[in-house]
Amino acid sequence: MQDVTDLPFMRVIARRGAPDWFVTEYFRVHPDSCLNRYILRSIVENETGKPVFAQMIGRDIPNLIRTARELAKLPIAGIDLNLGCPAPIVCRKDAGGGLLRSPEAVHRLIGSLREAIPGKFTVKTRVGYHDEDEFPALLEIFRSHAIDGLTIHGRTVVERYQTPVHPDRVRAAVETMPCPVIANGNVVDAETGQAYLTKTGAAGLMIGRGAIRNPWIFSQMIAGFESTRPPAPTHRDLWEYILELYEEIARETPNFLPLAHVQRMKKTLAYISHGLEGEFEYDMRRMKTPEDFHEVCRRHLDHDLPLPAKPPLDSKLFCGFDRLMDGL
Ligand SMILES: Cc1cc2nc3c(=O)[nH]c(=O)nc-3n(C[C@H](O)[C@H](O)[C@H](O)COP(=O)(O)O)c2cc1C
Repeated sequence: MQDVTDLPFMRVIARRGAPDWFVTEYFRVHPDSCLNRYILRSIVENETGKPVFAQMIGRDIPNLIRTARELAKLPIAGIDLNLGCPAPIVCRKDAGGGLLRSPEAVHRLIGSLREAIPGKFTVKTRVGYHDEDEFPALLEIFRSHAIDGLTIHGRTVVERYQTPVHPDRVRAAVETMPCPVIANGNVVDAETGQAYLTKTGAAGLMIGRGAIRNPWIFSQMIAGFESTRPPAPTHRDLWEYILELYEEIARETPNFLPLAHVQRMKKTLAYISHGLEGEFEYDMRRMKTPEDFHEVCRRHLDHDLPLPAKPPLDSKLFCGFDRLMDGL
């Protein structure tokens, strides 16, 4: 995730039970692009013991191929193409999710990249641009190329993050695609993750914001699969996690400025503090200095009460996550 899943984040997550693999923030590709050096560090300095896929975003075939060749020289598990980003600035350029409006362009792009990439090549998509009914035609395109994996954020681009996901579309992909299909969107704990797997038959899950909120989620899911005791983190464990993120990110930030760092941390803390009882979320938004940051965290998190497994049911951030469990 942009501005989140960088090297320090990967390190801090991995200490609490890492996923089977990571995916980098996307490398923007255009005629003048070169590989972003900060993102590159999450590949060349990755010491988590887990493989990392490099993700690219763009629409220009020769430059995507050029970038894929540069990435292929690095210790990556494979290359992932982003067809899901809903940011208006990206979609306006017909990149990311914007490309889903032009199935022909998607067809050409995936075909050319598949030919050029000898290693693993995967695609990350949404279930359509305007409407989920666009998905069957997109699936036909994905199926017609020998891609090595398809990750599906189960919303359309226009739905952004503001609806429940559509597990039936992910299930259709599982039934159609010869490669593994990974389900993504709104997994907030082991129960929602298991529900998404049950409903879709997907080969795995991609967990984004849920892992920022709860970095123990991967260990908790694995404990569920193995019928062992899952970690049960407390507020104090969360405080420790936040402090580690604060310090590791600070250490890796070029031209570190304390006030800017607090603003940077607030973006990540929005997911972590979301729905915790009391005024943590409110106080967090108002903090300005490192002193505020430490004082607010101490005031709200210095105790051993267990963390809630799920966000509030009316959560806007994880809109409709509870719907994953409907009918089970
Ligand atoms: C801040 C932020 C940055 C993101 N950056 C990327 C990205 O670089 N590449 C990508 O494929 N998805 C990106 N996403 C989308 C997530 O990977 C994921 O598809 C989406 O958040 C839904 O899954 P979740 O509910 O598990 O977070 C980003 C999401 C957020 C919130």
